[in-house]
Amino acid sequence: MAKTSKVKTDKTPVELLTSKQAAAEYARLQTEIAGHDKRYYQQDAPVVSDADYDELRRRYNAIEARFPDLRTLESLSLKVGAAPTGRFKKVRHAVPMLSLDNAFAEADVVDFVGRIRRFLKLGDDDKITFSAEPKIDGLSMSLRYEDGELVTAATRGDGAEGEDVTANIKTLKEVPHRLKGKHIPKVTEVRGEVYMTKADFLKLNERQKAAGDQIFANPRNSAAGSLRQKDPSITASRPLGFFAYAWGEMSEMPEDSQSGMIKWFERCGFNTNPLTKICHSVEELIAFHRHIEEQRARLDYDIDGVVYKIDRLDWQERLGFVSRTPRWAIAHKFPAERATTVLNDIEIQVGRTGTLTPVAKLEPVGVGGVVVSNATLHNEDYIKGIGGDGEPLREGRDIRIGDTVIIQRAGDVIPQVVDVLLDKRPKNAKPYSFPKKCPCHLHTDVVREETATGEEGARNRCTGEFACPFQKIQHLILFASRRAFDIEGLGEKQIELFFENGWVKEPADIFTLAARNNKIKLEDVEGYGETSVRNLFAAIEERRRISLECFIFALGIRQVGETTALALARGYGSWQAFHDAALKVATGDEETIAEMDALDQIGDTVIAAVAAYFSESHNKGIVERLTRELTILDAQKPKTDSAVAGKTVVFTGALERFTRDEAKATAERLGAKVSGSVSKKTDYVVAGPGAGSKLAEAKKHGVQVLTEDEWLKLIG
Ligand code: IVH
Repeated sequence: MAKTSKVKTDKTPVELLTSKQAAAEYARLQTEIAGHDKRYYQQDAPVVSDADYDELRRRYNAIEARFPDLRTLESLSLKVGAAPTGRFKKVRHAVPMLSLDNAFAEADVVDFVGRIRRFLKLGDDDKITFSAEPKIDGLSMSLRYEDGELVTAATRGDGAEGEDVTANIKTLKEVPHRLKGKHIPKVTEVRGEVYMTKADFLKLNERQKAAGDQIFANPRNSAAGSLRQKDPSITASRPLGFFAYAWGEMSEMPEDSQSGMIKWFERCGFNTNPLTKICHSVEELIAFHRHIEEQRARLDYDIDGVVYKIDRLDWQERLGFVSRTPRWAIAHKFPAERATTVLNDIEIQVGRTGTLTPVAKLEPVGVGGVVVSNATLHNEDYIKGIGGDGEPLREGRDIRIGDTVIIQRAGDVIPQVVDVLLDKRPKNAKPYSFPKKCPCHLHTDVVREETATGEEGARNRCTGEFACPFQKIQHLILFASRRAFDIEGLGEKQIELFFENGWVKEPADIFTLAARNNKIKLEDVEGYGETSVRNLFAAIEERRRISLECFIFALGIRQVGETTALALARGYGSWQAFHDAALKVATGDEETIAEMDALDQIGDTVIAAVAAYFSESHNKGIVERLTRELTILDAQKPKTDSAVAGKTVVFTGALERFTRDEAKATAERLGAKVSGSVSKKTDYVVAGPGAGSKLAEAKKHGVQVLTEDEWLKLIG
């Protein structure tokens, strides 16, 4: 049976902890916080809200203050370089950092200009001047100068409040520490985009790979990851650029136009984008869009569109803002990047849940600065041209090996084959026949299955389940991955190696590896040495204590992703409680099924998947052997005794007393559900200044509207 932790976070006030309880919780919090720090600083992928994080940190510090003997060299309080809470300090923007409305089609640009003409009551002969600029795909940054000295650099954050990354920004060569020129306003806030060039991004990933460190998905993520470093010397080692294009608080305006401001930024010592151009009509704007799109792939930095801004600042002021976007500017986005190449082969990949995905093996081709040699073909029907994504494009036209195909890459999305050029089809090309047997050694039958939503076309699944080696490997990969057990040094390659050698056949084997190493002798395996083996075993050891939500997610139950795992963990509180319920659900126990169904975010599909998983004896064995090796920590159960427990709350408007994340975290901790839209089911709408349509919706449905203060009073 699993050893469940006796530590109940947040239950016992620190003053009442015995020294033994304190020691256990101190150690647990240290591991948990270190995990969050890693996700936040190194992986740019935090999984808890700042408010939750700060609370962990506060409790950790409080325990340490009461039991100073617990402090060791590993204590988080001794780590320097970050704010007292371990993260960056928050900075409130003097002027909010807003976003832009998007145009996709030319008609949207016509509308944009028409709206402006009407709003400003311009006659047909009145000329409008626009500043047209590339839209840089990086991170927006606000740089505050007082008396010409850089005092604060802040990320955008939620627009109202960002993070103080001054020390890191000061390492960028393209950000002046002191503004050049004579008449510098007392307060100058320069805004723009921090970015990494495509070439530097590729080089950085090479270096990261060689060092076994994290690989970034795109230049934007690598720029974000590079800025979110506790140690500014790491940021300094990453080549980041900066383009200035906007401003925040200005005690005085040195110019009266957008283009004038851009030139002024240059005189102050900033880089501005050299492709920026003045335009006078819709036609010129559209020609600019086309011209920049043509150059896009050749540019050394990622852009995702162009931005048109009214040049006259007095007009910008008159036009003002609609909710959170200016009326005087619009982003005209580019469609996804495409390229043409030859389909050399189709390979079948088997996923963790047995889905067979056809992968196009392509003649390598550059798409928007990245070389692509694999792309997804989705599923059998997609290849046949009778369904699935992109279907209207090529109805009735199948895809064959040897075909010339069009591939598309949009942002982080896996490249996909979107079309086929029939006039280039080789004469002998035969229609592709999808395998009827799984490529695994079992050669199990492949069955066709409709997806739950029925939208993506039929999927083919191997029926081998956990006996299929592909599925086993995929499950082990998920198990050790960052989102689950997060075992450093146990990635895809290593798991394949361990699996093929029979050293790790199921998750429990990972935790018995060290004890069996006198036979395996991993240190003698190519690519390993004594240090790396020691590190790997230490990383495994460290994860013997695991949070309930990570554990449930790591089991690889179909339909149970991270969010669902968290909902189940919160709903049951302990592994024992969840496991008992799951076993009962598997036997069809109606009462337990009803109980599970009553949990927030859990419905029939998840219950069916849990039941299927726990009725399989093979799975039960895997789980039992695994839990023997682990300590599964209890989850925080949401409170049920607060005034807002079970209520649905919507936050709207510019909140002033707390950030949106904070508000959400507090409400959820008190057992309330936070929703993004107002309906009949909403209990409270908490409205800050500037609340708009949601307030109207609340009135329509007769939902109680609270000010921020009233809300604080309600929750006590
Ligand atoms: S102007 C009031 N100009 O796009 C908004 N933004 O969706 C002022 N961006 O957060 C922004 N290139 O990060 C502006 N030339 C450009 C830009 C640009 C990229 C980003 C910026 C902003 C987002 C808005």
